[in-house]
Amino acid sequence: MNKNKVLVTGGAGYIGSHACVELLQAGYQVAVVDNLANSKLESLSRVQQITGKSLSFYQADIRDKQALTDIFATESPSTVIHFAGLKAVGESCEQPLTYYRNNVYGTLILVEVMAEANVKQLVFSSSATVYGQSSCNQYTEDFPLGAINPYGRSKTMIEDILRDLSAADKINQTEFPWKIALLRYFNPIGAHESGMIGEDPNGIPNNLMPYVAQVAIGRLAQLSVYGDDYPTRDGTGIRDYIHVVDLVKGHIKAIEAFNSQKFEGGACKAYNLGAGKGYSVLEIINTFEKVTGRSVNYKISPRRAGDLAECFANPELALKELDWKVEKNLEDMVADTWNWQNKNPDGYI
Ligand code: NAD
Ligand code: UD1
Repeated sequence: MNKNKVLVTGGAGYIGSHACVELLQAGYQVAVVDNLANSKLESLSRVQQITGKSLSFYQADIRDKQALTDIFATESPSTVIHFAGLKAVGESCEQPLTYYRNNVYGTLILVEVMAEANVKQLVFSSSATVYGQSSCNQYTEDFPLGAINPYGRSKTMIEDILRDLSAADKINQTEFPWKIALLRYFNPIGAHESGMIGEDPNGIPNNLMPYVAQVAIGRLAQLSVYGDDYPTRDGTGIRDYIHVVDLVKGHIKAIEAFNSQKFEGGACKAYNLGAGKGYSVLEIINTFEKVTGRSVNYKISPRRAGDLAECFANPELALKELDWKVEKNLEDMVADTWNWQNKNPDGYI
């Protein structure tokens, strides 16, 4: 087993490609497995240009057990960061089985192959969406889970499976127990400061920041602000936005923690990755206009079904146990989003 090698599923995607940059720059070797269902290989070519280092790439589906087994045999990683998954909430409501098969079944295959290869360190991309709707707006990790759509439930199911896997180690007194970090992301935005990699959504974006950026560049005509009658400081929804580079640094901190006392004897632990404070939709628009000098054409529209008024992380546990906190502010997030959008108006082509 190569202690320095990390296998990254979904590494060609938005967050995965940024993770590859940070891993390579931190001295890790990287092997990526991605079926390119929602990404382009160009992202990994840019990762290699940014870092001046190379990585291995396998175009494969994580549900293909034989392919994964062969990749593990070739690469001998010590750790897996598991980003591969489908992530569109609306689509998950239309096609729940597709989401459960890809996300839940895909993860089952992955952990089976890991167990067979005796690779027991896993960082998993979970989401704040596992907390679901509630009257509470600042979440700690012990808050009861209650996802409200199939995408969110697929993340909750995977968390449950991984907790059960880790609990079984205690019963079986396993010699090499699982070390698993469930990282619950709040709202990742921004891009690498080079502007060479960034978020390249398929079709019309669902999320706020890529939508704003595409309006500013002229690809989309107008942003709909979903509701200005929420009980928030300006009536629009408040979210905890986190720079994607800060987010991926949290993954490296989790890998480092696997070697510390925190994970001694094996554990499966959830951590919120967020800033701990939120910004409203109007604050995002205003900051975008100030930082970029572009105007963002918008109109107030009805609320979007399933949206919360306000949602942000309590990130204290990640600070205490992973020694991680965000370093970048909203201006950085906006400037880096714009730098990427401006340099790549049509995304990766
Ligand atoms: P993304 O779509 O850009 O990246 C996911 C990657 O996984 C893509 O490259 C896709 O081709 C690949 N993939 C999907 N299914 C696969 C399969 N069966 N086999 C192999 N590869 C597969 O998404 P992202 O924004 O980078 O998100 C990464 C992870 O983080 C996802 O699991 C997502 O659910 C989670 N997450 C994202 C957000 C967010 O706002 N972006 C928030 C919370 C959690
Ligand atoms: C959405 C997903 C959530 C996922 C998260 C991560 C839904 C219901 N939730 O959350 O499961 O984990 O993305 O990326 O899709 N907004 C507008 N106009 C737009 C788009 C968004 O006003 O065109 C508002 C929303 O109402 C919200 C804020 O902007 O108040 C952020 O929205 P978005 O970027 O979609 O993130 P979430 O709603 O937090």
